[in-house]
Amino acid sequence: MPEPILRCDDVALTYRAADHPDRTVLRGVTLAVAPGEAVSLVGRSGSGKSSLLHLAAGIAVPTAGRVLLAGHDLGSGSERERTLWRRDTVGLVFQFFHLLPHLSVAENVALPGWLGGLAGREVQARTADLLDRVGLADRAADPVGRLSGGEMQRVALCRALLRRPPLVLADEPTGSLDDTTGREVMDLLLALTRAEGGALLFVTHSRQLAAAADRTLRLVDGRLEPERTA
Ligand SMILES: Nc1ncnc2c1ncn2[C@@H]1O[C@H](COP(=O)(O)OP(=O)(O)OP(=O)(O)O)[C@@H](O)[C@H]1O
Ligand SMILES: [Mg+2]
Repeated sequence: MPEPILRCDDVALTYRAADHPDRTVLRGVTLAVAPGEAVSLVGRSGSGKSSLLHLAAGIAVPTAGRVLLAGHDLGSGSERERTLWRRDTVGLVFQFFHLLPHLSVAENVALPGWLGGLAGREVQARTADLLDRVGLADRAADPVGRLSGGEMQRVALCRALLRRPPLVLADEPTGSLDDTTGREVMDLLLALTRAEGGALLFVTHSRQLAAAADRTLRLVDGRLEPERTA
């Protein structure tokens, strides 16, 4: 197996706060995501899916065990290092899009390129190409706040993919869309990441969408169920 893009070794996550008792939400989690692989993550509400994506993105750090993102040990890095590793390695997609409503469609997509210091011309060409591939070329100049939910999520996919991240993490990317639109967005997300050779780890509550991945991981009360081979 090639070097995984994401690896978790016996990871635990405990949330600690002064005003409530410690809460361990992930335990003994071991997994590997290979380059180019599409993996779905399922489990009941509160089972730890979002927490696991936060660990994978270096937004949270493990209380025990190791998380390796493109070979970087996230627990060993400073917050600044984790931010840079995340920027270089990960594209993020959220349930509620997290777009900047007063910027145009194209500006929202281009933002990670500008922040990452890419050449303006390259960012512009990449933005136009991605918007074309999701069918939004003619909306490039519109304020993003005028788009429908499904259109906004397509913009968010383009933004996530702009820098060709080797790993896309998507937390319920279809969770606020109707079934048909959700299916379309999921098909696009899978097709775009596959076309670019990136890996995808996505959370969904839909059995049908989960089955579109190469394999499915299931969390039960913070632990991964053993995988069944088909
Ligand atoms: N910052 C936090 N502090 C304390 N507990 C937290 C924190 N964030 C999440 N939790 C708890 O961790 C557990 C797992 O939450 P998480 O958001 O990972 O679940 P989830 O599987 O994504 O659920 P859902 O399907 O509802 O999105 C929950 O019991 C939640 O209350
Ligand atoms: Mg969640």
